[in-house]
Amino acid sequence: MDISSIVLAAGDGTRMKSEHPKVLCPVLFKPMILWVTDCLKSLGVKESCVVVGNGAEEVAAVLPEGTRTYLQSERRGTGHAVMMAADLIDQHLDGDIVVLCGDAPFVSAEVLRNALDYHRAQGAAVTVISASLNNPAGYGRIVRSRDGALLAIVEEKDADPKTKQISEVNSGAYWFKGRFLKEALSKLTCENAQGEYYLTDTVKIAVELNQKAVAFTSPDADIIKGVNNRRQLSELNRYARDKVLNQLMDAGVDIPLSDGILISPDAQIGPDTTILPGTIIQGKCVVGKGCVIGPDTLLENSVVEDGCTVNSSQVHQSKIGANSKIGPFTYIRPGCNIGERAKIGDFVELKNSSVGARTSVSHLTYIGDSDFGEGINVGCGVVTVNYDGMKKYRTTVKDGAFIGCNTNLIAPVTVEEGAYIAAGTTITSDVPAGSLAIGRCRQEIKEHRATGKFKGR
Ligand code: UD1
Ligand code: CA
Repeated sequence: MDISSIVLAAGDGTRMKSEHPKVLCPVLFKPMILWVTDCLKSLGVKESCVVVGNGAEEVAAVLPEGTRTYLQSERRGTGHAVMMAADLIDQHLDGDIVVLCGDAPFVSAEVLRNALDYHRAQGAAVTVISASLNNPAGYGRIVRSRDGALLAIVEEKDADPKTKQISEVNSGAYWFKGRFLKEALSKLTCENAQGEYYLTDTVKIAVELNQKAVAFTSPDADIIKGVNNRRQLSELNRYARDKVLNQLMDAGVDIPLSDGILISPDAQIGPDTTILPGTIIQGKCVVGKGCVIGPDTLLENSVVEDGCTVNSSQVHQSKIGANSKIGPFTYIRPGCNIGERAKIGDFVELKNSSVGARTSVSHLTYIGDSDFGEGINVGCGVVTVNYDGMKKYRTTVKDGAFIGCNTNLIAPVTVEEGAYIAAGTTITSDVPAGSLAIGRCRQEIKEHRATGKFKGR
């Protein structure tokens, strides 16, 4: 089926008091425009375009690859914005085109699909998705005839007191027949309170042309929630947060107290995993079954396999193997791959490194640009010295090695299988398999040279 879409995202966010375009405001860390484009993707839209204006380049940069953009260089209304996509309309004259606002992130694929079925069944030229609100202020009102036929959409600023009492409002989402949309756009004028080309006038035009215009009422009014200021953005975040947490709990995730928990709508979390307060999960994270995440933990675009604990730690763009224990107070930076049953403990920083199964890095350690094998014990205070001030170098430690406390591994260097490094050693050259490396000053004792017992303050 030929369905395509136009997303309007050229408006400025004056009331947001931001230097950035409004459609980039994040809801649960995800720019609003991407909620909309993801919805279109799950609807199965073949061709999607976005009309950009304010901060056009910034918006284009976050859009999925291959999204067409049209520039609206002057903001002259929603109808004018759709005119910018004339090309796309011309290519889909016999298809159905959905028009959405980029600042209404909760538009739902299910509602769009049901509205499309209705649009087709009715043979409509335009189908407006509407909703009934207790407080309709600010929205375009749906005006119907006595027998319920759709007559027009009247904007708040153009509405008389009686029209303002109508509680059914325009969501800003519509299905159009391509050919009708093209014709209706050519008939729009800007004779209204705002002097703009209103897309909403296409309804009146359909009625005048004796073509069918219908409204499909969404059973869920929340899908139309939009953002005009920071307070509303915060409200949307709270709404989205609760929705995501409820879905996760329904799927078997344990969230005993939701305080300070924020989870991206794109995260997947397995059943019997417990999420503790203060946990933030951003982006496309995948967390397995039976994990305990938190308290006070940040996961970002990472994979945490079944049975792990991640306690008071941060994990960025990395993978943690099953049944591993992370934290408390571990910092895992991008590019790490940790094997199964590993232990990464307190005040350990890892970056761009792999750590094999059953390896233990328990305390006060920096591992950067390194490949550590399986079953290794890394003592307290070990540092891979990966940077000489000019370039970064890699460290390799093979299976079963023992790295004593306070060892410096000066990269590039390799510690072979089963080697043993004595505490306090600075390793500057490769250590062969099965050997002991020790490199430190021999201890001397000078008798009676201590002045006495230190008593403290
Ligand atoms: C619009 C509808 C209103 C509806 C409401 C739902 C019109 C005339 N009114 O009003 O009936 O109830 O949405 O939220 O359509 N945009 C552009 N270029 C422009 C103007 C707007 O791209 O020149 C984009 C904005 O970025 C935004 C969307 O169109 O994503 C809606 O524009 P906005 O100014 O917010 O319209 P509303 O006044 O809310
Ligand atoms: Ca709006």
